[in-house]
Formats: sequence, structure tokens, C-alpha cells
Amino acid sequence: MSKDIDWSNLGFGYVPTDKRFVANFTNGAWDEGALIDDPMVTMSECAGVLQYAQTCFEGLKAYRTEDGKVVCFRPDLNAARMADSCRRLEMPVFPEDKFVQACLDVVKANLDFVPPYGSGATLYLRPYMFGINPVIGVKPANDYQFRIFCTPVGPYFKGGAKPIVIRVSDFDRAAPNGTGHIKAGLNYAMSLHAIVDAHNKGYSENMYLDPKTRTKVEETGGANFIFITKDGTLVTPKSDSILPSITRRSLCIVAEKYLGMKVEHREVFLDELENFAECGLCGTAAVISPVGKIDDHGKEICFSSGMEEMGPWTKKLYDTLTGIQMGRIEAPEGWIRVIAE
Ligand code: PLP
Ligand code: COI
Repeated sequence: MSKDIDWSNLGFGYVPTDKRFVANFTNGAWDEGALIDDPMVTMSECAGVLQYAQTCFEGLKAYRTEDGKVVCFRPDLNAARMADSCRRLEMPVFPEDKFVQACLDVVKANLDFVPPYGSGATLYLRPYMFGINPVIGVKPANDYQFRIFCTPVGPYFKGGAKPIVIRVSDFDRAAPNGTGHIKAGLNYAMSLHAIVDAHNKGYSENMYLDPKTRTKVEETGGANFIFITKDGTLVTPKSDSILPSITRRSLCIVAEKYLGMKVEHREVFLDELENFAECGLCGTAAVISPVGKIDDHGKEICFSSGMEEMGPWTKKLYDTLTGIQMGRIEAPEGWIRVIAE
């Protein structure tokens, strides 16, 4: 029985669901973890996460397929990336196989919240970990909590597939040799002033440049970039300080293997953007959101795909990726985990 939710009008927000997973790391070991009802977290006023932001997270989705199954997309890659984030933040790794199992268990325990096929909504899973014991000197916590909740979501950007306008940001998101390549909460705290400022000025997102030379494209606050050349090559920016997007890595395979496109993962310079025919943002939340225009300090970079709809290559990529996720197109081996038949 599906919940009484207006699935087609959901935005990207938090709707509490029935069950969430919680595991605790104390005395140097993880407990078994359990599914619980209580959505509230109780912790010390001096918890490491509250004082020094020792926290990281993941994001992945569960989908209802055309033939009525519930599946999720490449959760093993989220498990591996979360392990990388934990190592960089001096946090204990939650075992990757248990991470995947807990994701599947959370979806199974909230099946009524998985939006119907064709509604445009999906179930978003948010695994996260934080230092929970009191920490006052600057050092890692001893005790941690790992949680996964889920929430049904609609499109990340209002208007769904309508092209957005973004701006080149004067703020940096990540330092050279910093934490841009992991999913640390602190990266997002860093981006809040920049996104509020962008929204106030009428832009949907910020294009961050490489902080060292400010000549190369990095990513936005919550998604990687894809660019398409006039002859249909997919180009994605390469940098050590961007998050290795699972959507972007999947799209590179989709482009090459399903659509016969040429794919280049390389440095992309700000002054070459006007040569591209199409531009998009890709991520779990963003899926592929087309970019129609980039404002670089008053200089407008407009893509030939325009402001009305996705460009033709972006549309092919979007249709193929979502087709794989929703079971309309056969997936590469290991990409889809079936949770309920
Ligand atoms: N870049 C940033 C900064 C993000 O927060 C996200 C979202 O997870 C992405 C890129 C896209 O990554 P993925 O495709 O793995 O969701
Ligand atoms: C995701 O796509 O999962 C993210 O974490 C990005 C965030 C903007 C919601």
C-alpha cells in the first residue's frame, strides 16, 4: 500500500518515513545496528560533530521499476566512497558489505514510501556518520554513530528538466589538497553562503573553479559537470578536488557503451566553455539537470541547446541512464540491486 503522498508534486525535501538504521561505534567496535522508529538523535552538547564538524554522508536512490520491482543503483560505490570519506576524516569505516545491506534493509522497511513508477519521484537514501562523544581539544572523536534514513523526493531543481542558469563563483568550495574529493559535511557548510548569494541574485547554482589558478572548471555545490562538444563527444572535468560522482562515472560508461559517443575525462578550461554545444549537472539528486546559460561576471556563455529544453545528447544520456535505473533498459552487470520483486 503506497502512502497517501502527492508524488508528482514532491520537491527535494525531507519527509520522515517509518524506519531508519542506526549503528554505534564504541570501545573501538561497531555494534550490529538495528532498524528503529525514532527519528531524533540524542547526543552530548560537546559531541565532536557539533564542535569540529566531524561528519560525512552519502546519497543514493531506490526506484520502482516498470515491472513493479524496487531496486537501487550501484550502492557498492556509495559504500566505497563513504569509506574513503571516513578515512580522510579519521573516522572508523562502517564495513562496506554491511553498508550495502543496511541500505537495502532501510528500503525494505519503508517500501510504502517508494514512489510509484512514472511519478517522477524516487526514494532518496541518506547514509551518514558523525562523532558523538564529547570532544573539546581538536582531535577525532572516539565514538561514532552511523545512520541511514530515507525520504521520497522529486526533482532537485524546480522545473525539473528545464535548463537552469548558473554563475561562475568568486567563492571557492575546496582547497588544493583539501577535502573536495570526499563527501564531508564541511564542504557543504563552506558552500552555503555562496548558494544563498547565488539564489539572491537569480542563479540556480555556482560553478566553482579550481582554487589554485581559477582557470579550470571544477563542479557545483552538489553535482559534477558534463559538457557535450558540437560533434557529440562527452567531456567531464578532471580534478583531484571534486567529488567522484557515481552518476558521472556511470554516464561515461553509458555514453561509450550504449550511445557510441566519444568520452573525454580531462581538465576543462573556463575559456573553452563557449565551444561546447550542451552542458549539464549530474548527480544522484540532480540526475541530469541541463544548464542553458552560465554568467561569468557579466559575460554570458549560452549553449546552443537553449533555455527551453535539454539538448539532444543530454536527453539521450538522461533517457538511457533513467531507463537503466527504472528497468526499461538492460543494466551493465552489477549496477542494479533488486530489493523487492
Ligand atoms: N558533487 C557533489 C559536490 C555532490 O554533493 C554530489 C552528490 O552526491 C555529486 C557531485 C554527485 O555525485 P553522485 O553522482 O555520486 O551522487
Ligand atoms: C546527492 O546528489 O546525493 C547529494 O548529496 C547532493 C546534494 C545536493 C543533495
